[in-house]
Amino acid sequence: MIPTIKTFEEYQQQYSLSVQNPEAFWEEKASYFQWRKKWDKTLEWNFQEPNIKWFRGGKLNITENCLDRHLAERGDETALIWEPNDPEEHFRKFTYRELYNKVCQFANVLKNNGAKKGDRICIYMPMVPELAIAVLACARIGAIHSVVFGGFSAQSIADRIQDAQCSLVITSDGGFRGNKEVQLKTVIDDALVQCPSVKKVIVLTRSRTPIAMIKGRDVWWEDEIKKVETLGLNECKAEEMDAEDMLFILYTSGSTGKPKGVVHTCGGYMVYSAYTFQTTFQYNPGEVHFCTADIGWITGHSYIVYGPLLSGATSLMFEGVPTWPNSGRMWDIVQKYKVNILYTAPTAIRSLMSFGLEPIKGKDLNSLTKLGSVGEPINEEAWHWYDDNIGQKRCPITDTWWQTETGGIMIAPIAGVTPTKPGYATLPLPGIQPVLVDENGKEIVGNGVSGNLCIKFPWPGMLRTTYGDHERCRVNYFATYPGLYFTGDGCLRDQDGYYRITGRVDDVLNVSGHRIGTAEVENAINMYSDVVESAVVGYPHDVKGQGIYAFVICTPHLNDDELTRKDILMTVSRIIGPIAKPDKIQFVKGLPKTRSGKIMRRILRKIAEGDIANLGDTSTLLDPAVVDEIKAGALISV
Ligand code: WTA
Repeated sequence: MIPTIKTFEEYQQQYSLSVQNPEAFWEEKASYFQWRKKWDKTLEWNFQEPNIKWFRGGKLNITENCLDRHLAERGDETALIWEPNDPEEHFRKFTYRELYNKVCQFANVLKNNGAKKGDRICIYMPMVPELAIAVLACARIGAIHSVVFGGFSAQSIADRIQDAQCSLVITSDGGFRGNKEVQLKTVIDDALVQCPSVKKVIVLTRSRTPIAMIKGRDVWWEDEIKKVETLGLNECKAEEMDAEDMLFILYTSGSTGKPKGVVHTCGGYMVYSAYTFQTTFQYNPGEVHFCTADIGWITGHSYIVYGPLLSGATSLMFEGVPTWPNSGRMWDIVQKYKVNILYTAPTAIRSLMSFGLEPIKGKDLNSLTKLGSVGEPINEEAWHWYDDNIGQKRCPITDTWWQTETGGIMIAPIAGVTPTKPGYATLPLPGIQPVLVDENGKEIVGNGVSGNLCIKFPWPGMLRTTYGDHERCRVNYFATYPGLYFTGDGCLRDQDGYYRITGRVDDVLNVSGHRIGTAEVENAINMYSDVVESAVVGYPHDVKGQGIYAFVICTPHLNDDELTRKDILMTVSRIIGPIAKPDKIQFVKGLPKTRSGKIMRRILRKIAEGDIANLGDTSTLLDPAVVDEIKAGALISV
């Protein structure tokens, strides 16, 4: 365990140290891990190319640090608890030793199916323990995992598999979420029509729904496990990895084009995910940590799987949704497992808030000691509700700002140490150097200011590249403001130097904490046969944070508008997935464009927000009359 920070003064000291001598700071943190060979050089970097290397020459395997290392001391302690979707189904628990055994076995299954170091493996699974096992088994043999969230469509999966040229897919027949059964294998079958690189599909039994099993390609997880058991292959020596070898790819949306594969590497990500877990949550041995994210997102990677297991913690994973079978489910889980740390998203808090206090009544939440929030700005009302009713004013709330690209938490109060302020992610963790810049990239110094949030010095958990396209990584993150990593977020720094993230300044939406590019949604809408053109913007949504508002021009068509709307929703579901479905679709005759043909989103955003009176200057538009037509038909329910 890395020593935690106990007082605010200590935080300030650590922070100064980390800025004065970052290399010494991170060397010390890295020394708490097991390296097969120590690194030769702590840091090599420039943000121009970019080229970022941490712990160069170091050799390790992250799973030795997640599992093997703990066996002697806490082999019999619980590593993973799994709460099924259906509360009637039995939960499952794995000690560190049991998890180690499962990972070793499945790593041998992967090898038996031809997987080897450097191969890319796509994982498309429900939130069952085997998902965590599959992730760790990939890391054990040095294969690069690319987990795709279960809500993405066949087309989205195919795009991701092709981009990474995955050779193997791990999935399950189906899965359960609330009262829905999801057909995962069927979606994979549809995706694989386009993916010649995939040679093998390993299918876990979960819902035992009828599925296609293709000879020579598809095998059952359980059969493959039996094979390795029969062969006595219960141990699997971890592959030796270089600190800068790829650990995983995770696709995320940007403002342009298709999602990009953010690449994280073994050494730096290990040090950073564990350090931020232990520091932010002030993790104490024995505590039960419940992160409600899906492992398909970065939050699940870093704070269900890697961060907690690297720390020897007990990590709780939940298959279902917070509102099923009723809106007291989360609190039942907290009570059942005596959860100490609860890490969830503002959208979940807002959704549970809407059910009032009844679902909390009689639930024992006294085990809770720390609360976390992640994924989107948390509004003050939700912050206070969380503080009053869930934390019962005893538990510090840590509002953690970070991104897929940052690998771990960047700006957040250290639980119980940093004085909090509702709506503020407060101060950077030691090792993180945020700056605010104006449009010209000039640093805005002092307090009581706002600007675009950048980071000026590397940290071990940062992305190294975007898979297969380093130039895209440079252009997206390092070219806007030369010499800085640009986050895409707007931010203010108040009089006390506290940071408050105000939301994306690019064309990326944050819907229920999920990142979705407006361009992606537009492309999907435009695939519908009757659509001529579309423009998508976000608008404030009570529960989701942001909703998706689409302005759509159609050719004259036979269907009625309602049917067309539904067809468009279905098209978006097919192309991206249900999470990208617009909340509102307004049919329009034209879109506000400048004389050079650029859509003026500023105007559409105002209309979607219901701020019709303040559209600003529309005189530069090619045809100002279209604005009147759009205003007249605006779908504003507020
Ligand atoms: C937003 C999720 C305000 C932000 C870990 C960021 C937040 C994007 C916060 C990354 C927060 C995340 N307060 N905004 N505490 N946390 N965001 O890649 O806009 O899915 O750029 O990573 O979510 O989303 P991603």
